[in-house]
Amino acid sequence: MEPVVAPEAANDAVEATSGEIDLTVDLGRGLVLPNPIVVASGTFGYGIEYGDVVDVDRLGAICCKGTTLKPRIGNPTPRVTETPGGMLNSIGLQNPGVDAVVEKYAATWATWKVPVIVNVAGESVADYVAVTRKLEGVPGIAGIELNISCPNVGRGGLQFAIDAAAAGEVTAAVRRATDLPLLVKLSPNVADIRPIARAIADAGADALTAINTLSGIAVAPDRRKPLLGNIYGGLSGPAVKPVALRIVYEAAGAVRIPVIAIGGVTELADVLDFLAVGAVAVQVGTAIFADPTLPVRLVSQLEAECRRVGVASHRDLVGSAVPKRTAAASAKGVEYRP
Ligand SMILES: Cc1cc2nc3c(=O)[nH]c(=O)nc-3n(C[C@H](O)[C@H](O)[C@H](O)COP(=O)(O)O)c2cc1C
Repeated sequence: MEPVVAPEAANDAVEATSGEIDLTVDLGRGLVLPNPIVVASGTFGYGIEYGDVVDVDRLGAICCKGTTLKPRIGNPTPRVTETPGGMLNSIGLQNPGVDAVVEKYAATWATWKVPVIVNVAGESVADYVAVTRKLEGVPGIAGIELNISCPNVGRGGLQFAIDAAAAGEVTAAVRRATDLPLLVKLSPNVADIRPIARAIADAGADALTAINTLSGIAVAPDRRKPLLGNIYGGLSGPAVKPVALRIVYEAAGAVRIPVIAIGGVTELADVLDFLAVGAVAVQVGTAIFADPTLPVRLVSQLEAECRRVGVASHRDLVGSAVPKRTAAASAKGVEYRP
């Protein structure tokens, strides 16, 4: 049978795909992820729980469970419910507090190759700064991810993440308190992500992560009350992916710092979609509950995909779906948002 590819082209293809594939992601301040597949906060515990099932050192990074200054017992039950294409959770940041997290886990993290990023939550700027100070300089802690989708008690419970000034203020305060790489996690529950993303970048964040869960509720089977003990829950899973894609697309277009995508990843195609809209890395969350081995398999699959399409790094796939120029504003100066 005749060869389907001309011999020269076949040689080129072999050359392009047979070398080492570079999957590293440089987030700045010395934090270089070995690959772009990260496990999302709240869905992989402190990593240690999964040691028997997953080779954690093959992951790009671990974002641990949300950590607060004092221990928290979390929200009343029920705390989770399934939804079409996803789940609603209202765990309420149950965690043993930063001192216990450092004491119990950091020594083990220090023996791992995989960078561990501590997800930090608080109810005031002072809370975030205090937790950060306790993490600064601890061996085994590679960076901080600020969960700013928390009520700011001093401002009548308004979430930091939905207000550009508050998001910038908490980011700037934490930036002053630490030299650790600082990631800040965006909430999708906003009308326009761009001013918020810019405020966080201007305040000195090293990277953005997007998105946290979408606010939702469910109704109890007897229809006499909302189902979740906390009434409100956060929607995650495949159902949120289009929203996450849109927010990553907009945030990546608005700032110069790297954006890490989160939301509904269940297979390689999702990873490739997020890279295409400008993400440099991707976090896997809810899908881990069904299959904790998924993130490690995605690493191998992404490497194989780079070979298949003939690129030396996944970085060559980043931004492929982003138009070269932003479309001109419409005559009315507004975009169509159904
Ligand atoms: C049970 C559960 C707990 C979570 N806990 C946290 C948390 O402590 N801090 C945080 O920033 N995000 C938390 N998240 C949000 C996830 O990290 C992620 O942003 C979100 O679930 C969207 O990704 P996914 O669709 O892949 O799950 C949690 C999500 C779930 C499902």
